Amino acid sequence: MIEFKHVTKVFHGTTIIDDISFVIPDGEFVVLLGESGCGKTTTLKMINKLIAPSSGTVEIGGRDIAGMDTIALRRRMGYVIQQIGLFPHMTIKENIEIIAKMNSKDKDRMEENARKLMGMVNLDPDQYLDAYPSELSGGQQQRAGVVRAFMTEPEIVLMDEPFSALDPITRSQIQNALIDMQATLKRTIVFVTHDMEEAIRLADRICIMDGGKIIQFDTPENILKYPANDFVRNFIGPKRIWTSPEYIKTRDIMITDPVCCHPKLPAFKCIELMGRRKVDTLMVTDQYRRIYGVLFAESLIGIQDLKKPAEELMYQTFTSVSPDSSIVDLLTLFDEKHLSTLPVVDSQGIIEGLITRSTLVNTLSRQFISGKEEGK
Ligand SMILES: Nc1ncnc2c1ncn2[C@@H]1O[C@H](COP(=O)(O)OP(=O)(O)O)[C@@H](O)[C@H]1O
Ligand SMILES: [Mg+2]
Repeated sequence: MIEFKHVTKVFHGTTIIDDISFVIPDGEFVVLLGESGCGKTTTLKMINKLIAPSSGTVEIGGRDIAGMDTIALRRRMGYVIQQIGLFPHMTIKENIEIIAKMNSKDKDRMEENARKLMGMVNLDPDQYLDAYPSELSGGQQQRAGVVRAFMTEPEIVLMDEPFSALDPITRSQIQNALIDMQATLKRTIVFVTHDMEEAIRLADRICIMDGGKIIQFDTPENILKYPANDFVRNFIGPKRIWTSPEYIKTRDIMITDPVCCHPKLPAFKCIELMGRRKVDTLMVTDQYRRIYGVLFAESLIGIQDLKKPAEELMYQTFTSVSPDSSIVDLLTLFDEKHLSTLPVVDSQGIIEGLITRSTLVNTLSRQFISGKEEGK
């Protein structure tokens, strides 16, 4: 566990880090996110004692690191920076093993471990272990940099904009490799970036910083759904729905008071209800809001027996969706099934809401229009 307690850093009379406090539990992937100069690197460097706080304490495992041996502390950590920092005259194998060797961990298992980690980041050991850094692309070098940081089996891995210099495709591949790696290794990772996309992809929680302060520290989902203020809202950007639609949930956009009728309601009353509420579909539910079927206006057109109950006219087999499914799931369903209306039903069969084709279109267009208005 890493804990910052009221940490402040003053450089030459200027407050760079302004009273920040947070806790990172073991095994969590935290991304420090913010614009250039907001204090991300300074925060990161206070974890491995490259920078000491002016006041406040940084604790690891409940102990103030100020009193710990710096070398011993750094041995518990991996560190990856943007300027990869591989030694040009050493092979990839030598580069990867150098720090682990200094830590003199089980030397026999060294190559085995290197091969395993290289496999995780898709860097073929047979091809590259004996190659020199100059023979590798930037992306491959950074993969080697990541392997090196994980070689010592560190408790904590610090990563400062490690992928910022890579092209988008390489970057996305190496991000995926890191996600897979973390799923297996479960280290505590503190990762710095100025890129919202990257933060959303990688983080368990994102710490948004501005001017040396923490503005919001929460899961990607909560930050997208409940941005703390206009700074965060601007940082996210109004067109987020297009780039992270998986975070928009059905329950956020559904109609919460769908028009319902009892299974025994006779057809003429159903017609009256549809007319009065201006809908073309009724959810057929009992008094506990358990859904039995869906009654469409077209099933009522020209019927002879106006006393026929809703339950004999409704569709019993209907598609429904859970309130937690994403807008991507919704679009897929509407596309595949050619639906106009979709009941939102929880796991107990209780109706919670309704999605219509126009709800979806409105949600999407509202985002698009607000995006255009703000000129983004
Ligand atoms: N050694 C230093 N001396 C003086 N100012 C510094 C020093 N290191 C960083 N700063 C200043 O502190 C602020 C935060 O820097 P930094 O933590 O590197 O930000 P970030 O990583 O978010 O871009 C910047 O304004 C930077 O100029
Ligand atoms: Mg920085």
